[in-house]
This record gives sequence, C-alpha cells and structure tokens, in this order.
Amino acid sequence: MINNCTYNDIDIIIKLGKNFNYDFEKLNNIEKLINNKSILGYYLNNKLLGILIFEQIYETIDILYLIVDENFRRKHIASYLLEYLISNYDYEHIMLEVSVLNINAINLYKKYNFKIINTRKNYYKDSDAYQMEMIK
Ligand SMILES: CC(C)(COP(=O)(O)OP(=O)(O)OC[C@H]1O[C@@H](n2cnc3c(N)ncnc32)[C@H](O)[C@@H]1OP(=O)(O)O)[C@@H](O)C(=O)NCCC(=O)NCCS
Repeated sequence: MINNCTYNDIDIIIKLGKNFNYDFEKLNNIEKLINNKSILGYYLNNKLLGILIFEQIYETIDILYLIVDENFRRKHIASYLLEYLISNYDYEHIMLEVSVLNINAINLYKKYNFKIINTRKNYYKDSDAYQMEMIK
C-alpha cells in the first residue's frame, strides 16, 4: 500500500535515508517534507519499506530520493512508488539527478522512460551525476 508518510514514520525515514547518504538527516527537513506531503511511503503490514521524496514546482516534479529497505530490494517496491507518482500527480515533466555510478537506479529510471539530458560534473562528492527527465 502506498500512502503519504506521517510523523510516526520519521525514525524509519531517517534510517532509510542515512543508509543511502550519511548526511541525509542534516540535509533535509523531514518534518517539513511530511507536512508538504512530499514523502510517499510503501507499506507492507504497516511496515515502511520504501520512500520516494519529491518536490513539485509548478509543472515540474523533482525526485529527490527513492530508497528501498535493503532487505526488500528487487521486489518492485521502487517501481510501485514511481508508478504511483507518475499516475497520480499533475505535471509536465519529472526530473532527477542520479550518480553515473548508480547503475541499478539508472536502469530503473530508464524502464520508466526517463532520458539522460545532461551530465553534471562533480555533482556528488565522489562522482558526476546524470540529470534525467521524463516528459508526460
Ligand atoms: C535503486 C533502488 C531504489 C531500486 O529499488 P528496488 O525496489 O529494488 O527496484 P525494483 O525492484 O522496482 O527494480 C526495478 C528495476 O530497476 C532496475 N534494478 C533495480 N535493482 C537492480 C539491480 N540490483 N541490478 C540491476 N538492475 C536493477 C531493474 O531494471 C529493475 O527492473 P527488473 O526487476 O524488471 O529487472 C534500490 O536499489 C535502492 O534503494 N538503492 C539505494 C538508494 C538509491 O540508490 N536510490 C536511487 C537514487 S536516489
């Protein structure tokens, strides 16, 4: 089941985020993101197993993070979250940045018709980033 995350989820959101980027908690105002309904959660038996964090500015949705619990990967949880975003929101295009080294995520986004439109040099501490776009 996919739903907006709530304040009850903060600890797990931080755990999932920190697993991906140690500075996750410092870099993000989780309460504000929850308040803005900017965190979608995938729940199985009330347990939060994946999150998609995004922001919408006019006709553009920006995906900030898509993270799945490492014990539950390759079960299409990220796909379900992405499909939910693609089908339930009003937008003209969806944008994101992803490390050029993150082949799993690049494969996932390509599956949903995202195209690489730009390479951002040194976007991350240890790598460049592809900027990817999906047009509705
Ligand atoms: C990237 C990530 C979100 C994918 O989550 P997931 O739930 O395992 O992904 P799905 O099961 O929905 O996989 C969908 C597609 O992604 C690609 N993919 C995902 N994991 C992959 C892997 N380990 N190797 C190769 N391709 C992979 C495949 O194309 C897959 O389609 P398929 O199952 O039909 O082959 C997950 O690995 C993760 O949380 N990684 C750490 C955080 C991260 O890097 N996020 C992206 C940048 S914010």
